[in-house]
Amino acid sequence: MRAKTSKIQPPGLIGLCRPGFERELAKELTRMALGAVQAEQNSAFVVLTADQPVSRFARERVPAWQNLIFARQVWPWFARLEDLPRHDRLEPILAALDELAAAGGYRAVVLEFPDSQIGRPLAKLCRTFAQPLTEALKARGYLVEGAGLELRLLFGTSTTVWLGEVPCGLACPWPGGIVRLKLPREAPSRSVLKLVEAFKVLLNEEERARFLKPGMSAVDLGAAPGGWSWQLAKWGLRVTAVDNARLAKSVLATGLIEHVVADGFKWRPPKAVDWLLCDMIERPQLVIELVGKWLSRRWCRHAMFNLKLPMKNRLETVDTAVARLRLSAKEVRVKHLYHDREEVTVYAQA
Ligand SMILES: C[S@@+](CC[C@H](N)C(=O)[O-])C[C@H]1O[C@@H](n2cnc3c(N)ncnc32)[C@H](O)[C@@H]1O
Repeated sequence: MRAKTSKIQPPGLIGLCRPGFERELAKELTRMALGAVQAEQNSAFVVLTADQPVSRFARERVPAWQNLIFARQVWPWFARLEDLPRHDRLEPILAALDELAAAGGYRAVVLEFPDSQIGRPLAKLCRTFAQPLTEALKARGYLVEGAGLELRLLFGTSTTVWLGEVPCGLACPWPGGIVRLKLPREAPSRSVLKLVEAFKVLLNEEERARFLKPGMSAVDLGAAPGGWSWQLAKWGLRVTAVDNARLAKSVLATGLIEHVVADGFKWRPPKAVDWLLCDMIERPQLVIELVGKWLSRRWCRHAMFNLKLPMKNRLETVDTAVARLRLSAKEVRVKHLYHDREEVTVYAQA
């Protein structure tokens, strides 16, 4: 006898975010007018349900994860299964696929879970379930070498799963949209992780190779204790680190970093540099004004910086800031990174 499972459709989109930022992601999805959006506070995910009775969410309507500020991950789902029996989650999933799977099969299967109190313990379930699921999919011919789609599963609880599919290469490549990085033992601060993630997420490989080369120059405003400057020096850049506070000894020991004791809002570079970095804790409006000035006066070619967010109206604050920055930058990219808390990271190019 088949296990009792309820299957819910029409389909839609699922987006993952940092817990506490569901409202912001929900607003971003709502304004795309693709369907009704549901978001539960601190669930770390948002569900959009299509407003049309279709069997598949139209591929051309799926936003790229890079274009949603507060989404770590986003993909279209075609079925939600509830009441999965704990002793056999496989059977209802295979039954749903027998009915709904894409004709050409899938190149791979990826299991994800939300980064929430309820979701994090599901990591183990995803790990142990991945192998039997993969074997069963192979046995039924659903895993096809060279197929254009990837099968995605998101466990919301241990008995609820969303099934989705996404063209290979379209979803965020890190499971759950989480860029896991190891802090080097010699790193002067945890901020190093934020900067490394920013360069991985906001630039592609080709841009990183072109824009970030040994021998280039950078200014780091609000540099102390020196994590960002230290990382730039590790990549071979020469850095002017501006801060009234002290830099860690390991930072000065790189030999590539000059410490300037000054106010980052007033200090001017003696000559143009390749990169401006800014991590000063200030109102977004002031930081945008400052970075806009550096870009429009060509004091730097690229900027990577943080905007600290207020508790309320976070999305509106970012929207206003970005609109303003676009007046002096030809390219602006914004993401709420895994290592960001109450802030977003911005890349801008003059
Ligand atoms: C979050 S910390 C920077 C951490 C740094 N990115 C790292 O990787 O270690 C912010 C720094 O900005 C500095 N700061 C704040 N306002 C500043 C200003 N007006 N001028 C210079 N530095 C400032 C503070 O002294 C503090 O050291």
